[in-house]
Amino acid sequence: MKLIDGRFAMIAGTGKYIPERVMKNSDFEKFLDTNDKWIVERTGIKERHLAGEDEKCSDLAFNAAVFALKDSGLAPEELDMVIVGTCSPDSAFPSVASKVQGRLGAVNAGAFDVHAGCTGSLAAMSAGIAGIACGMWDNVLVIGAEVFRDILDWTDRGTCILFGDGAGACVLSVSSEKKGRFTASKLMSDGTKHNYITLEGENRDDPHKVRMKGNDVFRFVNTALPVFIKDFCQDAGLTPNQVDFWVLHQANTRIIEGVFKRIGVSTEKTLINLENYGNTSAASMMITLDEAMKSGRIRSGEKVAFVAFGAGMTLGALLYEA
Ligand code: UT7
Repeated sequence: MKLIDGRFAMIAGTGKYIPERVMKNSDFEKFLDTNDKWIVERTGIKERHLAGEDEKCSDLAFNAAVFALKDSGLAPEELDMVIVGTCSPDSAFPSVASKVQGRLGAVNAGAFDVHAGCTGSLAAMSAGIAGIACGMWDNVLVIGAEVFRDILDWTDRGTCILFGDGAGACVLSVSSEKKGRFTASKLMSDGTKHNYITLEGENRDDPHKVRMKGNDVFRFVNTALPVFIKDFCQDAGLTPNQVDFWVLHQANTRIIEGVFKRIGVSTEKTLINLENYGNTSAASMMITLDEAMKSGRIRSGEKVAFVAFGAGMTLGALLYEA
């Protein structure tokens, strides 16, 4: 873990976009051997949103970006970089970020996607913070966006019930005051477990679908994440309990409760919204950030930790002084 040196980055604005179409747990009962009770008890999820027929990842990303930009008060021309964390881009190339940059008219910005599973938007934020710290960029738009609708195997009840579509965004700007600044960052990968969550076909004719070893992921996260968080906090010079608020990747209520129990922190210090959205992968932490900011859960001067995990297996954390 490194404490962040150089110029500090602050959160200047946030936004989210959730597609209209709602899919409830009971909707799965029509075509799968599952039920609402099982899904709620094992995951905490009650419903998720799915992108409309014509909506792609870049559409969701663009809509969230418009809200975040408006919230920041910045004009598109003031952006230096657009970074999108996603596992479900419209295409392998061009990047989702380039499409958003073009549609926004962010004529002075570069653009690229970050591909780190559900940790993608945290990794994208880290890249943005680093670019600001070293003086390369002043204003960075970071987006987490996913459309899993087309990459799920809707016959795989252990996987398809988990995921949903959505997007969240934030604008990072160079912090002129001492308040509002990221102070620590840590990204980790255990690539020996790369086969836990994948999107790859068996052969050229095989459609690419999300495959997940749910139990392995569950076990890995419950053992590795508490240690990762404790180490992160220790290196940053505080205990997990000295963090005022936690912005988390939303995968499973049981995971959040289990990890918090292991680090000795009350879940009252976080916002859990996965009952409404399911796991929106790289979008989930950004959607949660927007909801936490807009509902006043993050107050000036508080210490806020961001934590995500996902395919790779990847883990990531950031510390922010609001
Ligand atoms: O962003 C990271 C993404 N991934 C994750 O976070 C996933 C982490 N893993 C999990 O959240 C959990 O492992 C799952 C929710 C995926 C599964 O929950 P579980 O409590 O670990 O269940 P299980 O896989 O051990 O399955 C228990 C039983 C099995 O039946 P048998 O073999 O005991 O008869 C499954 O076949 O539940 C069955 N099952 C289901 N039953 C009803 C699996 N999926 C379903 C379902 N409805 N949707």
